[in-house]
Amino acid sequence: AQQCEISPHVQRFDCYPEKESSKEKCLERNCCWRLPIEQTNYTDKRLTGIPFCYYPTDFPTYEIISNETTDFGQRIRIQKSQTTYMPHDILNLTVDLIYETQERFRIRIYDSVNKRYEVPLQVPVVEKRANNTDYEIRFGKKPFAILVTRKSTGVTLFDSSVAPLIFADQFIKFSTRLSTPLLYGLGEHQQPLLINVTNEWKRLTFYSRDFPPMENINLYGVHPFHINLERTPDNQTHVHGQFFLNSNAMDIDLQPLPAITYTTIGGIIDLYIFTGPTVENVIEQYWDVIGKPTMPPFWSLGFHLCRWGYNNIENMISTLERMQSANFPIDVQWTDIDAMSSYLDFTYDSEHFHGLPGYVRALQADGIHYVNIIDPGISSTQSAGSYIPYDEGLKRGVFMTKFNSTELIFGKVWPGITAFPDFTNPETIEWWTDIASAFHEVIPFDGMWIDMNEPSSFVDGSQDGCTDNSLDNPPFTPHVHGDALSAKTLCPSAQQLLSSHYNLHSMYGYFEAQATNIALRTIRKKRPFVLSRSTFAGSGRYTAHWTGDNQATFIDMYFSIPAILNFNMFGITHVGADICGFLLDTTEELCVRWMQLGAFYPFMRNHNSLGQKDQDPASFSWEVQQIMKQALLMRYSLIPFWYTLHYEASSKSRTIVQPLFSEYLNDKNTYNIDQQFLIGRALLISPNLLPESNSVHAYIPQDVWYEFPLGVKLSNVGLFTDLDAPISKINVHLRGGFIIPMQIPGDNLVLGRGNPFTLVVAPSQFGNASGNLFWDDGDSIDSIETQTYNYLEFSLTNSNKLTINILVSNYKESAMRLDLIKILGVNTSVNNVIINGKSYSNYLYNIPDQILLIYGLDLDMLSQSSQTI
Ligand code: GLC
Repeated sequence: AQQCEISPHVQRFDCYPEKESSKEKCLERNCCWRLPIEQTNYTDKRLTGIPFCYYPTDFPTYEIISNETTDFGQRIRIQKSQTTYMPHDILNLTVDLIYETQERFRIRIYDSVNKRYEVPLQVPVVEKRANNTDYEIRFGKKPFAILVTRKSTGVTLFDSSVAPLIFADQFIKFSTRLSTPLLYGLGEHQQPLLINVTNEWKRLTFYSRDFPPMENINLYGVHPFHINLERTPDNQTHVHGQFFLNSNAMDIDLQPLPAITYTTIGGIIDLYIFTGPTVENVIEQYWDVIGKPTMPPFWSLGFHLCRWGYNNIENMISTLERMQSANFPIDVQWTDIDAMSSYLDFTYDSEHFHGLPGYVRALQADGIHYVNIIDPGISSTQSAGSYIPYDEGLKRGVFMTKFNSTELIFGKVWPGITAFPDFTNPETIEWWTDIASAFHEVIPFDGMWIDMNEPSSFVDGSQDGCTDNSLDNPPFTPHVHGDALSAKTLCPSAQQLLSSHYNLHSMYGYFEAQATNIALRTIRKKRPFVLSRSTFAGSGRYTAHWTGDNQATFIDMYFSIPAILNFNMFGITHVGADICGFLLDTTEELCVRWMQLGAFYPFMRNHNSLGQKDQDPASFSWEVQQIMKQALLMRYSLIPFWYTLHYEASSKSRTIVQPLFSEYLNDKNTYNIDQQFLIGRALLISPNLLPESNSVHAYIPQDVWYEFPLGVKLSNVGLFTDLDAPISKINVHLRGGFIIPMQIPGDNLVLGRGNPFTLVVAPSQFGNASGNLFWDDGDSIDSIETQTYNYLEFSLTNSNKLTINILVSNYKESAMRLDLIKILGVNTSVNNVIINGKSYSNYLYNIPDQILLIYGLDLDMLSQSSQTI
């Protein structure tokens, strides 16, 4: 008899996730069909999303048939005695429980007999079981279930007993109880930072897709990673993380039980649990699996200017010239597809962009860098011998082919019909390097912008449609935009070296970024800069990311904040959104607000779509330019701080920007805050995201905060407050306990490298503070490995002593002179300043603001291993 009595509704698990469910179809699956009629309160959001068709509690599933202890933990064999509703049910499965580290647990469930596709990501292989783990594992025998709890608190981290496990060839589904309905992550989606399913059901789909960011649509990248909040018995907050290592198209369903359900259409179950217990810990544990972000070149931290539709070199030059004559700092000039000849990759339009090679070289001589766009689709319709990228690629067998065939699969992108390189093939990486290198001889680009790599194609499937096999027509299609896996991309049945496109689709951008990173290293012999639209878990090792085709609206400006925070958690720390908006015409007000906010994105690029009106800072009125310049100068003066954060990201697994809850985990007020964010741990940014508004409703956590850059201490903390935010102002606050290294800006980062440094010292409530500075030549591939850098630590002790300690000083090429020290919150009057034992008279002490300025120092920070002030 079917056990259909399941109440409340939040305990139902969807047995018919397809669009047209009906009672008949449901009963055919041996599931229960009940409308939630007994519930009368139909305004309750808990009702929308309730499955009418759900699993009975006795739905057939697996049971344990053997269990052996292994070196890594346990190997369990499970079996199901009858098939259920999906074709090719796999009845015998193996479950490996791998105790990888004290804080990292891995569950692998796979076919006991036949080898299946697994994600080609190099993850650590652990053969010895970790001892004294933070977690404890139990399991249910019949039905089979896994339960993971946190040892110290007994809190449940994972509990798969809530729903039956389904494991068919093209349909794998399992659910687990969440600790609380509050979670973060699960990208790439246009969504607020906090995913709160206390009162609602939510479905997120994962399959890389070219679409302007909108809510509830699968977007460019795939990151099935989340962080879940936990309440401890003594009312503290812990977090744990979970990563589903699977690259097939999938849905993730969330429901108020609270529970999460993964429905994927291929691969295996390979799931990681990270026990944290802080956000910083979870991130570090996650990145140990997927890899740390790459260290970006120094120049890429500057301001980037781009647009689609300069249309000719005169427009581009006059834009850059008006920027420079208005004295805006700028580091990188970009060109889009309109600079190509007939939209052909690795060409330039020598008519409309005549002289581009020489112009780029001239820019480079002035310290400006140049980046161009490359789309993966390679035109296949040029006359033989006239387009080497295609001819060579064909010869070297680098393009994707049709199912079970050596014939190429053709799609359509900007240049018309195109073939698609298979970047999982090592030969493709060499071909890519060769053609990029040949173009580099023509125009010595400094970085590569890889776009359209979901991969995007203007015809669904291919020029010849798709097959009718089960890869192109799976029994279940996750809720992808366009309703088909081939929508705006290639047929899933297309072949790549490592596997089918069906399996590898969402990793196309990942492999292209890897290939491009390798190509740039080989060609330039310098630290690569790659900007990729499509990403997968681990892409941060190779590339930066921007959030794609946003709109010039206040709401899209807001959504950029949760996006950059999420991508930091996903390990792609060098991230930004198109400043002032890509689609639609921007407005002066929006663009000012966005330049102010964008000055605090890790990756700062103003980019605009074809036909949209100019939005480079110099295109606006004199007044507006002054405000934008102020924001830019603030960014440039903070570059030493940013650069040090990148070093910490790539070497110590720290996010560059982060949400407030990550630093104030026990403060519930922070959980839902995504209109403000932190840079490192020290700077709080509270942008004004509303039109025609002169104030920001902001949360100031319980801590010591100083207005930045002024330095006046805030008197009201631990509350929501309205901060003054007229159009000329972005609110930035410096947190007590930190010392920030700054530098006088130059016209660009290359020219400003030798400029004097400043230290801003913000004492905590105990009167101490610390900070650090990483510095190298900014461009070498191996400066970290070979320790060819300088690393300085600053500390203020409560005895009013500031110390500069040099831990590494192997980079001597450029001077590091300290000119100014600004100490905030000095509440006793200052009578003398002593530097390295000698009395120093160039100082000013401002009594009402409690700020001590020590100026005109001209101190060589590298001259001795320790200096005191
Ligand atoms: C895509 C990119 C956009 C670019 C355009 C033209 O829409 O996302 O940034 O400008 O293509 O290349």
